[in-house]
Amino acid sequence: MNARVAIAISGGGSNMVSLVQAMTGDFPARPALVVSNNPDAGGLAKASALGVPTAVVNHREFGTRDDFDRALDKVLRDGAADFICLAGFMRILGPEFTANWAGRMLNIHPSLLPKYPGLNTHARALKAGDAQAGCSVHWVTSGLDEGPVVGQAAVDVRPSDTAESLAARVLEKEHILYPRALRAVLGGAETPIIL
Ligand code: GRF
Repeated sequence: MNARVAIAISGGGSNMVSLVQAMTGDFPARPALVVSNNPDAGGLAKASALGVPTAVVNHREFGTRDDFDRALDKVLRDGAADFICLAGFMRILGPEFTANWAGRMLNIHPSLLPKYPGLNTHARALKAGDAQAGCSVHWVTSGLDEGPVVGQAAVDVRPSDTAESLAARVLEKEHILYPRALRAVLGGAETPIIL
């Protein structure tokens, strides 16, 4: 039985596109819904063009984080989602939500965790003079970017790199890693996947 995967986005949704395009054939999941906290997210139109139902839960319309999380949870359940992939999703989810979806929610983060949880990961790697940067897919827990890692992909840092050039190269790896990691966890394969 294929998992019904909801993908949560806040922006362009390039990781969402690569996930949706991977969920075909013998892939053990299908996209059920793309949901965004941002009504202007460019990824919403991309999802519609790919034939995936979309929904918006605009965080600006809720007085508390808990109210937003509960509204998001309802949209996901109404869409009969049984797994969530956070993909460029820029909201921090509260402990009630992460507990409800424990073991059924992944995130992709643009660093080699446990290095650089949070924001501005590439600038921090450059400032530290790291030889490598990269991305990680991890289980989502109540802490920020700290759940067990299920996959990683590294890129060499070049002397000429800026945060933007590094982000672009890492993003290419994200698009390969995320579908591989999702397939591994849904298919019970060995993780972490190291690309
Ligand atoms: C990516 O670097 C992802 O790792 C981060 O958000 C960025 C944009 O992702 N979470 P997308 O193009 O919206 O998928």
